Amino acid sequence: MKKIVILHSDISAEASEDELDCLRQAEVISGAARVLGYEPVLLPFVLDLNQTIKELKTINPFAVFNIVETLSGRGSLIHLAPALLDYLKIPYTGCPTDAIFVTSNKPLAKKLLRASGIATPDWLEMDGSFFQESSDEKYLIKSSWEHASVGLDENSLISHKSNDVLLAEMNRRQELLGGGCFAEAYIDGREFNVALIAEASGVRVLPIAEMIFRDYAEDKPKLVDYRAKWVADSFEYNNTIRKYEFEAGDDKLLKSLHEISLRCWKLFGLRGYARVDFRVDQNDKPWVLEINTNPCLSPDAGFAAALEQASLKYHEAIALIIQDALK
Ligand SMILES: Nc1ncnc2c1ncn2[C@@H]1O[C@H](COP(=O)(O)OP(=O)(O)OP(=O)(O)O)[C@@H](O)[C@H]1O
Ligand SMILES: [Mg+2]
Repeated sequence: MKKIVILHSDISAEASEDELDCLRQAEVISGAARVLGYEPVLLPFVLDLNQTIKELKTINPFAVFNIVETLSGRGSLIHLAPALLDYLKIPYTGCPTDAIFVTSNKPLAKKLLRASGIATPDWLEMDGSFFQESSDEKYLIKSSWEHASVGLDENSLISHKSNDVLLAEMNRRQELLGGGCFAEAYIDGREFNVALIAEASGVRVLPIAEMIFRDYAEDKPKLVDYRAKWVADSFEYNNTIRKYEFEAGDDKLLKSLHEISLRCWKLFGLRGYARVDFRVDQNDKPWVLEINTNPCLSPDAGFAAALEQASLKYHEAIALIIQDALK
């Protein structure tokens, strides 16, 4: 049987919910690989690169399914996994090194988006660089490198009285946010996720999801924050709901989300599968929040939900992603 390595983050014993999710993904992807007739071998990507190299050479897989999200607990080292696979000339699934590096560094991705004329909210970086086109009242302090809404909650939303106030808050929070952060203009409006997958004929946009914030009080910020993603007994977890049915009045907006997502795919040289996250303001203008290269493949996450809406079976999608890696 052909061996495929499922390369995942090296999770410590005291890992948090969001980190443990990588292991859960590894298990379901292994299950799908078995259905496809492959022999999956789980391997953690460890900081001692020589050890990972040795293990990969011993296993000698025909391909690697790369779901590494962190190294040494840091999202900022994520690109080392595909870089090592490039060096070893082992085919791997999902996005290439450059795309992973550029999109995982959110402020860098935003610069590229803006330079290509794709709207992304105004932002302030820790060195004081301010990319301002309009005057927004509220800013959200976000991690530059971490995903899974790490360190994000209602207290992350700050009134923009001055850049100094935001910078002081950023300095105070940066360690909690994985070592680097930025402040981004808060888009008060609807939220959408667009999942993309590479098929033999080219990239396909899967059914678009809107996040509904059910029963949120008027003054409660509408955020898919850490609790909404990971704390199963929280109000936020139980009241942020994906929706796939839309009124005819949304046609124009959905078409534009579809087109912008394809532009992002091209701009960042994405491969395999990805997800683009948007907010849409009160004037129906879409703003790209981020590009997720190799997004979470857990059965309860957005990508799998979009596959189901497209009537694509989970293992069929895994087959497409593996085929794309071998191209
Ligand atoms: N500028 C913004 N305006 C409004 N809401 C925002 C903004 N930035 C982030 N959010 C909220 O915070 C959530 C998480 O933000 P974002 O998607 O940028 O981070 P992430 O931690 O990388 O998430 P993911 O789990 O998708 O990788 C968004 O889904 C959205 O609800
Ligand atoms: Mg996101």
